[in-house]
Amino acid sequence: MGERGAAGKRADCLGPAKPGFVCGRLRPGPVERSAPGSLRGRIGRPIGLRPRGTRGWLMTTRAIGQHFDTADDAFNWANGNAIGLILIRLANESGIVARLLSGPASVAELARASGLPTDKLGRIVDFLVAHELVEAGEGGLLQATPRTAMMHEAASYIRTLDLTFPMGLEMLPALRSGKTPFEAAHGQPVFSYFASHPEQAANFGRFMGWMTRRIERFIFAEHPFHPFGTVADIGGSGGDLLLAVLGHYPGTRGVLFDLPEVAERARPAIAASPLADRVEIVGGSFFDAVPAADLYLLKQILHDWHDDECRRILGRIRAVIAPEGRVAVIDHLLSDVPAPNESLSTDIAMMLWDTGRERKRHEMEALLVSSGFRVDRVTANPAGHSVVEAVPV
Ligand SMILES: C[S@@+](CC[C@H](N)C(=O)[O-])C[C@H]1O[C@@H](n2cnc3c(N)ncnc32)[C@H](O)[C@@H]1O
Repeated sequence: MGERGAAGKRADCLGPAKPGFVCGRLRPGPVERSAPGSLRGRIGRPIGLRPRGTRGWLMTTRAIGQHFDTADDAFNWANGNAIGLILIRLANESGIVARLLSGPASVAELARASGLPTDKLGRIVDFLVAHELVEAGEGGLLQATPRTAMMHEAASYIRTLDLTFPMGLEMLPALRSGKTPFEAAHGQPVFSYFASHPEQAANFGRFMGWMTRRIERFIFAEHPFHPFGTVADIGGSGGDLLLAVLGHYPGTRGVLFDLPEVAERARPAIAASPLADRVEIVGGSFFDAVPAADLYLLKQILHDWHDDECRRILGRIRAVIAPEGRVAVIDHLLSDVPAPNESLSTDIAMMLWDTGRERKRHEMEALLVSSGFRVDRVTANPAGHSVVEAVPV
């Protein structure tokens, strides 16, 4: 939820804060901000931080508790979010969003294209228009806005909730019995489940790609890598980060390493990329061995696993890394004072999905040190994933 400024505009986007702009758009009025480095929000709660070295990267959040001052607000927050998620999913799955992105359409036309009854679709569209996700334009035609495109982009995330909600239902008995909620709800650990559910796995890959695109700008602006020849993205999924890094560092080569079925699924998109001739795709398990490289990327890998499992992964890298090699761990770092931010939510998501967790900076450093590395540089991103870069000792 975004902190609202005087003009009622959300201010929780990821990106460099530009004077006068919110989420890339012109800000129509003043928006409240926490002071740089401040841990206190406008009602005295911790709301995030802006450490030195993260020029202009600003995050504000709205605590869920702020919706619980009155029963009306609590109900509207819960009901609006639940119905909103259901309808955004439906609008994507029915093809309505894609149709509007190709041009304006009437409700009747959308009903014909989606197979939905016109009267009910009219009520659904009223909700989407009222919540500013699509626009009613000239002659009653509906039209897409940049937010409609964002709904389209967020579709993969919203589809992962098909897996998350059953985990939520199982969370209490699962935690009491020592299982992960994912295993309790879906019968096996997440990455084994994906091996036998390729459609869900492919959607998860699209979601990870979306998460990567959200932070590329931050990584390249704030965390330039030391010169390297070969970069290996360990658990690199569809290769989105690897391709972005290769595009940013001309003349380098990359290895995409992931489980064999995931690596195979990545092949067509990599082959279609103009950078394909600089990429090698390798299937395997990072618990067994990893390919040789100068720079290792571990984005949203360590947060999937508990400390002993992380030490095994890092141990495989430590065994083959050159003395001047580097490891860049890209994960959410928890703030020392719990803040209602993305890192805290993904920490609980990890409790649902697998055996991992998000870590505080000192916990991540301790993990790396106990695996034979020294932390050389940390670029903390209060809006999302941070980069912790380590060298072998
Ligand atoms: C949370 S996703 C992160 C993907 C990617 N690094 C990103 O940030 O977009 C975890 C990745 O680890 C991969 N993975 C899980 N177990 C693995 C293993 N034993 N060996 C190699 N990759 C594994 C998964 O297939 C998945 O692509």
